This record gives sequence, C-alpha cells and structure tokens, in this order.
Amino acid sequence: MTARKIIIDTDPGQDDAVAILLALASPEEVEVLGITAVAGNVPLPLTAKNARIVCELAGKPDTKVFAGCDAPLSRKLVTAEHVHGKTGLDGPVLPDPTMPLQDAHAVDFIIDTLRSEAPGTVTLCPLGPLTNIATAIRKAPDIVARIQEIVLMGGAYFEVGNITPAAEFNIYVDPEAADIVFKSGAPLTVMPLDVTHKALTTRPRIEAFRALGTEPGRMVAEWTDFFERFDMEKYGSQGAPLHDPCVIAYLIRPDLFSGRHINVMIETAGDFTLGMTVADWWRVTGRAPNAMFMGDVDADGFFALLTDRIGRL
Ligand code: BDR
Ligand code: CA
Repeated sequence: MTARKIIIDTDPGQDDAVAILLALASPEEVEVLGITAVAGNVPLPLTAKNARIVCELAGKPDTKVFAGCDAPLSRKLVTAEHVHGKTGLDGPVLPDPTMPLQDAHAVDFIIDTLRSEAPGTVTLCPLGPLTNIATAIRKAPDIVARIQEIVLMGGAYFEVGNITPAAEFNIYVDPEAADIVFKSGAPLTVMPLDVTHKALTTRPRIEAFRALGTEPGRMVAEWTDFFERFDMEKYGSQGAPLHDPCVIAYLIRPDLFSGRHINVMIETAGDFTLGMTVADWWRVTGRAPNAMFMGDVDADGFFALLTDRIGRL
C-alpha cells in the first residue's frame, strides 16, 4: 500500500495536535505534504506556532508548516479559548518551536500542491474552520477536479451543535467558507459531532497514553486531562470528545467508521441556526448527495489505534 498524500489544514487546539501526531506517526499510510494553519480555536499566530510545536514534539521538524488566513471570509473571528486555553495548547508547558514557518501563504501551497501532484492523489484534511480551503477553491477553481478527497471534522446532525444550540464550531466560525466547500463538487467525507461525541477520553484511555512512558504519550495525556474538565462539566459525560484525530484515523482504518452518503447544506442566513449542517440523513429532500456523512465509530478500536501509533513516536 502506498501512503496517501495529505495536507492537514488545522487550528491547533489539543485535539488537532493529537491528529497531527497520529498522522506523523503513520508514514506507511499517510504522507504529510504540509500542514496549513488557519485561525480558529485561537488566532493565526498561535495556531501557526502550535502546529510547529507539535511537529517538533513528534520529532519531525522537517515538516512544512504554512500560515494561512487570519480571519473568516466575511465575519469576525470567533475563538474557543474557553475550551483550549489561552495558548490553544494549554495543559503541559511546551518549548517554543525553533523550526521555521514556510514563506509561502498556506492557500498558495494548497493550490500549488494540487496543481503539481498527479490529479486525484492529494487528500485535504481540514480540522478547523474551512477558510483556507474555500479561499483556495475561490482563487483556483481548477483545483477541485484534482482533489482526491476532502476528509474534514465539522458539523453535526443528531448532536446538533456545540458552539450554538444549532452549530458545530468549525462550521459556525466560517459558514460561508463551509458553503463553498460543501457545494464544490469535491468528494467529501465528514466527521461530525455525531461521531466525535462517541470518541470519548475515559480515564483508562488517558492513562494508556501516559503509560507509554514517552514524551508524546505524556503530552497527549496532559492535553486530554486539560480539556476534559470543560467537556465533562458541559455534557456531564465521563470524558471529552477527541474530535480531530477521527479524520486521520479514518484514512488509516476506514473500517472503524460508518455513515451515509447524503446531501448536506450549510445554513448561512439563519438567525438562530447560522452554521448548521442541514444533513438529509433520512433522505427526505431529493437533493443530490454531496457528502459521506459519518454517524458511528468503533471507539475502542479508535483509541487502540491512537495509543499504538502515538507509542511509535
Ligand atoms: C472542533 O472545534 C475545535 O474546538 C476542535 O479542535 C474541533 O476541530 C470541534 O467542534
Ligand atoms: Ca480543530
């Protein structure tokens, strides 16, 4: 099996960080061509810095990291320090990165990569608001036909919302960008809250990371310890959802996930429902399917994979 070429578009965030570690620990399945940072959980300077901190933690300082858009297409940035802390990676103290940011803009890197690699061989993995991806599509519509697949974390149907009663954070922050991506015609696979709220960090799962006895294992345990307190208070659940690693896990073990190929539209105008992913799960509209919308995950299999791979770093 040849490794699948991917670009991770991200706003780290502790769960983004775990997703990046999972990808960098899995070179047999995924080749990370670059990491593109976007404003989201925290402002762009911090997400661009955090992405590099994580690459260094993984022992992969040669990974190319690019800074992208610092604000949504047409709205003020909404951030999530209440979940991720002031730095976006609150929890353990980590050294500032020494590896450089690349000079090119993230959007140009996405466009240039899709144009220079063979058509249908590059997968985009957005883990934050879709601003960079939508900007690339708007600037260079020819890239859409060259995308192998977009596998993203965002949206919800049964779980409805986490940042508003109707919307999930990544889609809510830049609904116009999400609208462009969902209407683009590119093959789309979506990991919504319906999946990620089943991928919960329990005490034994966190302790399994710590028991690896490695620096990445300890960091993952400390990050999850940090953001768990917020989710446990909010949902009354036994742990916190590990959202973004679901995207990378899907590339490695698609059999862990199941869903439906359905139509998904983005609400860009609702007074109370801005950013909602209107998913035609029950196929009642007759609108053409545009996304593989996941609904379930084998959570034990997911955490076993994650622990095994983090242990390889
Ligand atoms: C998403 O929002 C962010 O806070 C997380 O990193 C994840 O990408 C979950 O709604
Ligand atoms: Ca994220």
